[in-house]
Amino acid sequence: MLLPTFQIAPDGVDPARVPTRSLPTGARIPAIGLGTFGSDHVSGEEVAAAVVGAASVGYRHFDCAAVYGNERQVGQALREVQRGGVRREALWVTSKLWNDKHGEADVIPAFKRSLADLQLDYLDLYLVHWPFPNFHPPGCSGDSRSPDAKPYLHDAFMRTWRQLERLVDLGLVRHIGTSNMTVPKLELLLRDARIGPACNEMELHPHFQQPELFRWVNEHGIVPIGYCPIGSPGRPERDRTPEDSVDVEDPVVVALSRRLELHPASLCVKWGAQHGQVPIPFSVKRANYLANLRAVASAPLAEADMAAIAGVDRGCRLIKGQVFLWKEGQSWHDLWDEDGRVTPA
Ligand SMILES: NC(=O)c1ccc[n+]([C@@H]2O[C@H](COP(=O)([O-])OP(=O)(O)OC[C@H]3O[C@@H](n4cnc5c(N)ncnc54)[C@H](OP(=O)(O)O)[C@@H]3O)[C@@H](O)[C@H]2O)c1
Repeated sequence: MLLPTFQIAPDGVDPARVPTRSLPTGARIPAIGLGTFGSDHVSGEEVAAAVVGAASVGYRHFDCAAVYGNERQVGQALREVQRGGVRREALWVTSKLWNDKHGEADVIPAFKRSLADLQLDYLDLYLVHWPFPNFHPPGCSGDSRSPDAKPYLHDAFMRTWRQLERLVDLGLVRHIGTSNMTVPKLELLLRDARIGPACNEMELHPHFQQPELFRWVNEHGIVPIGYCPIGSPGRPERDRTPEDSVDVEDPVVVALSRRLELHPASLCVKWGAQHGQVPIPFSVKRANYLANLRAVASAPLAEADMAAIAGVDRGCRLIKGQVFLWKEGQSWHDLWDEDGRVTPA
């Protein structure tokens, strides 16, 4: 629980000691955030309690989304944190536009729903959650397909993006960004955007480092936010396939974590933040979210240890996005423009 006059818990981390990344606007994003996707088995109330608990140990960055179905509870938690004395400007709150709200007339109302649920009057970052405007019900199985599924259509995406730009103009959001994008799609967006993406949220963990996209976004001044930084050991069944590998069981990660006396999960998070992404690990357990924050705020890993983890990349994408496929006979690889061009409709 937060004290009425907010104080960081004695075993917590002073937020001033948590590294940050700077953005072209001059804003600084804390280099670690708390994920809030309960993966279908953690209730909104539990996630909300973790938000309050995480704030009380020094977290200031919270990664939310309408589709997580818990923004109302998270909003109450954020209100409690501010009542406890944390200034709004000290917080970084992200939300995301879900795939059934890409229509020009739908974007601003969807944003305002999130804003109201989160009990805020502006967001720090608003992302287009996926580049595909395909509705599928939350919790559906990986082989379910929408009869109205559509491919990435750049003109349609830009119509959605113009509405995000309007949100900036209206002073309702400080930064806008993307998620689950590829280099070919981002090239088109940068060519046509009036306000470019400040951040791109992407899957990033030791077994899936996406070096090409990671380099590209950095070269273009876009901050990579890394989701599933631990390899998402608690992800829903529908997001698991037999080929998936387990980061926290990787022999290099395990050996290093033993030597450094860190849990492999916290080592993955620490590596991510030091590598240059902003990891957003999920946990509702105080010991775990605190350990992750402390790992990021502690002395850096040696170069040789960073290099050892760089060497374990297996190109193992966990969140494949199968539900977004739009025609028969496709594989999930088609969603990720692996041959360097946007996969044709
Ligand atoms: N943009 C997108 O499309 C997208 C996609 C996926 C996820 N996300 C965001 O990314 C966030 C993180 O991804 P994720 O939740 O899938 O995966 P993750 O952060 O890689 O893994 C979370 C799991 O790791 C465990 N864990 C965390 N810290 C630990 C520690 N120190 N020791 C041991 N276990 C630990 C948690 O369990 P306990 O709760 O038991 O600690 C939880 O089961 C999400 O919550 C969401 O905000 C975004």
